[in-house]
Amino acid sequence: MSANNRIYLSPPHISGREEEYIKEAFESNWIAPLGPHVTAFEKEVAAYAGVKGALAVSSGTAAIHLALRLLGVGQGDIVFCSTLTFIGSVNPILYLGAIPVFIDSEPESWNMSPVALKTAFKWVLKAGKMPKAVVIVDLYGQSADYDALLRVCNRYGVPVVEDAAEAMGSTYRGKACGTLGKFGVYSFNGNKIITTSGGGMLLSDDTEALEKALFWATQARDKAPWYQHSEMGYNYRISNIVAAIGRGQLTVLDERVKARREVFQRYKEALGDIPGVGFMPEASYGQANRWLTVMTLDPAQTTVTPMQIIEALEEENIEARPVWKPMHLQPLFAGCMYFIHEDDVSISDQLFARGVCLPSGSNLSLDDQQRVIQVIKHELVGD
Ligand SMILES: Cc1ncc(COP(=O)(O)O)c(C=O)c1O
Repeated sequence: MSANNRIYLSPPHISGREEEYIKEAFESNWIAPLGPHVTAFEKEVAAYAGVKGALAVSSGTAAIHLALRLLGVGQGDIVFCSTLTFIGSVNPILYLGAIPVFIDSEPESWNMSPVALKTAFKWVLKAGKMPKAVVIVDLYGQSADYDALLRVCNRYGVPVVEDAAEAMGSTYRGKACGTLGKFGVYSFNGNKIITTSGGGMLLSDDTEALEKALFWATQARDKAPWYQHSEMGYNYRISNIVAAIGRGQLTVLDERVKARREVFQRYKEALGDIPGVGFMPEASYGQANRWLTVMTLDPAQTTVTPMQIIEALEEENIEARPVWKPMHLQPLFAGCMYFIHEDDVSISDQLFARGVCLPSGSNLSLDDQQRVIQVIKHELVGD
């Protein structure tokens, strides 16, 4: 292994303003799972995104769980979900005893294919059981094509949860990702574009629904002078300290988006002309935050595989990862239904086989990025 310092895939990037907010929390003794920073963080995120309300919770997964429960998802219900995603999009479907049905990607954005979604609806229509919700993921920080997807969902009257865990700061036709469905979700996990060290946010214009989610997120305590409970709840709130970090991070979100897009541009310029090399396309309808730069290798043009690139980078102490393994290929979901984009072509399988996620941190130095580029070039063209 190289003696060089490790380059991480997507490490946290502190703004310097977080400590000021944390200090304030300590000085006022608000070290609790509520407090002024939590309330302010929610207001600031809602204002940034342009929605009526936001609820800060312990993770993006928790936010999806609450969204699905608000939509009435329960035992035996069907929920449609993008297949090309992280497990956090799907686990909440299982928490509620519901059944995920997976939808393929489209090649233009790598996000949920409206064609495959239509096929899935036709199938459930025949089977006589409509889904209770559709979870649409904005993959690697790129918005899905909501005009096309919502047209299909609205025709059947099925609400959408937008999993924008990776897409804070991205847009779709001028609107912020996270605001395109009935509910939207951000994650502030340590590897995200901004982080609270761990946390998430549920967004919606339906403030009454958010009130209900808050009730569940705080152990569903009835309005009574003693601890009384009529419904099942969760301990999903975040602390005032965690929210303080989030407020500091939010002040630099736009800078972080700019920096990640520049990282992407440099990879593309340095590697884009090598035969067989491609990159995740940016759909014309929006701006992606380029949370991760994803490179693809076309097996028709190069014999080098994504795993060879990942191993070569690891030799040099550089972290890279394969594209998410699609959910329909996971042992956990063996037997689940899956609808592909076109006859005989599963786009998500192709992307999984061809993609490599490259170090993409907004604090990746030019020298470090050059190190990454050199290793990849050496592997592909022997330079
Ligand atoms: C697409 C997607 N959905 C959901 C999650 C879950 O978020 P969290 O880790 O905050 O629970 C993540 C990331 O972690 C994600 O990438």
